[in-house]
Amino acid sequence: MSVSVLASSDWLNTRARHVEQVLHAMLPAETCEPARLHQAMRYAVLSGGKRVRAGLVYAAGYAVCASRDSEFERALDLAACAVELVHAYSLVHDDLPCMDDDTLRRGKPTLHVKYDEATALLAGDALQPLAFDWLAQMPVDPELIVRATRVLAQAAGSLGMAGGQAIDLESVGKHLTREQLQRMHELKTGALLSASVMLGGLAAAMNPVQQQSLSAYACAMGLAFQVVDDILDVTVDTAQLGKTAGKDAAANKPTYVTLMGLEKARDFADALHRDAILAIKPLGESGQLLSDLADFIVLRNH
Ligand code: IPE
Ligand code: IPE
Ligand code: MG
Ligand code: MG
Ligand code: MG
Repeated sequence: MSVSVLASSDWLNTRARHVEQVLHAMLPAETCEPARLHQAMRYAVLSGGKRVRAGLVYAAGYAVCASRDSEFERALDLAACAVELVHAYSLVHDDLPCMDDDTLRRGKPTLHVKYDEATALLAGDALQPLAFDWLAQMPVDPELIVRATRVLAQAAGSLGMAGGQAIDLESVGKHLTREQLQRMHELKTGALLSASVMLGGLAAAMNPVQQQSLSAYACAMGLAFQVVDDILDVTVDTAQLGKTAGKDAAANKPTYVTLMGLEKARDFADALHRDAILAIKPLGESGQLLSDLADFIVLRNH
């Protein structure tokens, strides 16, 4: 991996540990009744993960903020943790037998294997509203909270992640056109990654010009993230991935690899990477963390 990817993964690791401390402190305790549900929620959220979405919240916030103080840091913490809750819920449901039927996630048994299906459903159900509860506590202008709430709600809903997941399930065994595949990926994965970037910008009260840069970066990286996920599914083993490798082919899912082959899929991820870097040029040096994260997303190996 390049020097820049290693540097960004150092920064991301440090941020990830910080986010995990905040999540650990804010999630209901394992002893809080109903204890089994709260244990499952903590298992879903605290069992590892790269914390890329949280990283994007901070990197976007720092890229456009006028001044950093403790209230701003708290707003970023709450937004970053809220996005990680929605992401964790999406993984728990994605792994259920009625969806991808996976037994391994982040190197550990999936939630329904460790607990049971009903608990997995309920943990997901409970994590989602908790995310909005945390977002509502951001110490920012109430108008920004309303905008942030809508950004996250739309990214998670039927015109975002949940809609993309529905298309994913409907597409099993089918050939999708390039446009259809792009739409599916933008919804099921891109939407939440984009929302992460926009939430960081909102916490920093971004101006319309900054919003334009962040939005273009977010669209490119959101799609790139799932293109790379498709590639890793066929190029990396289960131990390194922390989830079952080769799942897409086994489940007959259309992916960028099945649509265009490995080499062209990689070229496409590289092109999206270039688009993202170009989009944040106007932000100058303050966009460095976003640029480093873009490198990490495209060059990662898990
Ligand atoms: C996996 O996301 C699910 C997708 C949307 C492709 P990540 O690769 O970010 O998973 P974690 O959080 O690091 O485990
Ligand atoms: C996941 O896509 C998208 C989600 C909304 C969770 P995948 O089904 O490809 O994710 P993995 O490979 O199981 O992490
Ligand atoms: Mg899936
Ligand atoms: Mg899956
Ligand atoms: Mg996948």
